[in-house]
Amino acid sequence: MTALNQQMITEAATYIQSKSSIKPEVGLILGSGLGVLAELIEDGVSIAYQDIPHFPVSTVEGHEGELLIGTIQGRPVVMMKGRFHMYEGYGPELTAFPVRVMKALGVSSLLVTNAAGGVNTSYEAGDLMLISDHLNLTGRNPLIGPNDAALGVRFPDLSEAYSRRLRALAKDTAAAQGFKVQEGVYAGMLGPNYETPAEIKMLRTLGADAVGMSTVSEVIVARHAGLEVLGISCISNMAAGILDQPLSHDEVMETTERVREAFLALVLAVIPKM
Ligand code: 6GU
Repeated sequence: MTALNQQMITEAATYIQSKSSIKPEVGLILGSGLGVLAELIEDGVSIAYQDIPHFPVSTVEGHEGELLIGTIQGRPVVMMKGRFHMYEGYGPELTAFPVRVMKALGVSSLLVTNAAGGVNTSYEAGDLMLISDHLNLTGRNPLIGPNDAALGVRFPDLSEAYSRRLRALAKDTAAAQGFKVQEGVYAGMLGPNYETPAEIKMLRTLGADAVGMSTVSEVIVARHAGLEVLGISCISNMAAGILDQPLSHDEVMETTERVREAFLALVLAVIPKM
């Protein structure tokens, strides 16, 4: 396990600050196919992950690797275009390292998005779901190891991991734009395989509405760091055993592309108010 510490966070943040004078307030971590938001950043500076000290480099197809700093609708933001997944072989503390760096850059709230499978049978591919809570079923935790009190408390409270205020804001914004969003529980799995039908039935019994392979470690670290979190899943497909058809990453990418416009409209309107 890589021991991450304050010095590594500071080195990464200092490098990033040398590339842009913008002081980001909102952090954005965008999932599969949703990186198009990057094109809407104004006065943007792009920094390749490989150039940032201690940053991991992304390996999966369809996930890019650059950090962008700029403004969206006048709000200073830092955006990860491409994220790190534990199934790529990174430890949970490494997948969440960029969140620590965002905090060091001055960010106070975080928007995380992902593509997820629908577990709730009333959902449909193409729905957007505000994450109300999560189940960390990855078997991993980014906070394992000695706790640095400068970064957060030993035993962080997760009773409101996903901000009620930001969820209400996103819900109202979507309603004003004329579409309905789902709200539900995200089950975070290690992956990389999609689940079996029996596992999906189990997740439904446990209270999950959607399932994916990202987000939980980033959100745990964000809460540890005191960031307010908004999470949005794009239901890219129904999970195994619900429809009589196999799952594929192609379908995930196709659906995220189809709902791109609604997704963009929502986050563009929400970011300035976060
Ligand atoms: Cl069905 N499962 C998981 N773990 N991740 C997904 C998914 C399903 N669909 C999109 N991402």
